[in-house]
Amino acid sequence: MNRRRRARLRDELRQRSARWAGLLERHGTPLLVLEPHLAARRYRELAQVLPDVNLHYAVKALPHPIVLSTIAICGGGFDVATRGEIDLLGRLGLPMHRCIHTHPVKKPADIDHAYAAGIRTFVVENACEVQKFAGRPDDVELLVRLAHRNAAAKSDLSSKFGVAPAEAELLVKHVLAAGVRFAGFSFHVGSQSARVEPFGDALRQTLRLVAELRDGHGVPTRVIDIGGGFPVSYRGPAPPIGAIASVVDDVFGEFGVARDRFTLLAEPGRFLAADCLTLLTSVVGTAVRDGQLWHYLDDGVYGSYSNVMTEDVHPPILALSELTAATAVDLEPVTLAGPTCDSADVIARGYPMPALDVGDVVVSPMMGAYTSVTASRFNGIPATPIVMI
Ligand SMILES: Cc1ncc(COP(=O)(O)O)c(C=O)c1O
Repeated sequence: MNRRRRARLRDELRQRSARWAGLLERHGTPLLVLEPHLAARRYRELAQVLPDVNLHYAVKALPHPIVLSTIAICGGGFDVATRGEIDLLGRLGLPMHRCIHTHPVKKPADIDHAYAAGIRTFVVENACEVQKFAGRPDDVELLVRLAHRNAAAKSDLSSKFGVAPAEAELLVKHVLAAGVRFAGFSFHVGSQSARVEPFGDALRQTLRLVAELRDGHGVPTRVIDIGGGFPVSYRGPAPPIGAIASVVDDVFGEFGVARDRFTLLAEPGRFLAADCLTLLTSVVGTAVRDGQLWHYLDDGVYGSYSNVMTEDVHPPILALSELTAATAVDLEPVTLAGPTCDSADVIARGYPMPALDVGDVVVSPMMGAYTSVTASRFNGIPATPIVMI
């Protein structure tokens, strides 16, 4: 993390940290502080640059009831992938008609369950999956998920899901032959895409298919789902969200297609969830190992820092003392490790931190997406509590 980014984060966090002392006193550490208005702010930001796109929050990123309710209040829908996610939305009384089911591979009983809950739009990516929809009520509609490779994403989902564009036409024919409604296409350029071009390339590929189906077979496409993958700034800058919106705009322009001919959808997860959770963790112990200073924290990669391990995503880390210091403090490279007995439980190496003692609090903003939800209970360590300001 460069000095400018660190200084900017210090200023941002200084304002938000005013109420942390009380929370720390009451709950101790580790603690995840939830500020749902930050998810609402992200929602508005995305809705502003993509005003004609229906936003379906990817529940998997952070299925916290308050975050889900916040998204619903903002007018958003949901992207669900499992029974558990559907049941959670149901228990919260959130609008199921604003849900799409995007897991490309499902048990027939899961499809029954989703349908009974009110979901009508599903995703397929292979012929076996299409057959599971044959004979179902005719208000069910399918999106065909296209694969799109993206080396610039932290997690390239096309290595597991999505039909190759060259085979997509055949899959659409399978859908129609099975007597199921074909609604359109979806893609996902991979999570935390560091470049905006993949959004344009994937859309270009989709619009080419749309034209082939229309001109070659008279098959209309109504829905285009541009997926998730919208990046956020962690330790370094990420492409601005407006740049992604411009790329999408340009591609529609290139094809001379009016975008209002389509129902446009997106499935943002990380972008909406990332900055509404801030982790407060503290130093449990300190040691010098091979000449390098180590601090052992009470949360780690088997806990809230799980995205470090699963997707190589590295959140910013600051000392709480930096937020209150009048001037910039001296930083020295240290290793920050988690609380388990596993040697893989290292959060950061050679990472610049000010002097820290046992009990000092360390702050990680941007801890909302794929953090608490993918944390394990390894070593008998309980889930880090989430409290709301
Ligand atoms: C089908 C689907 N949609 C949306 C998302 C959310 O992606 P992101 O959090 O990168 O926006 C994911 C993430 O894995 C996904 O698998």
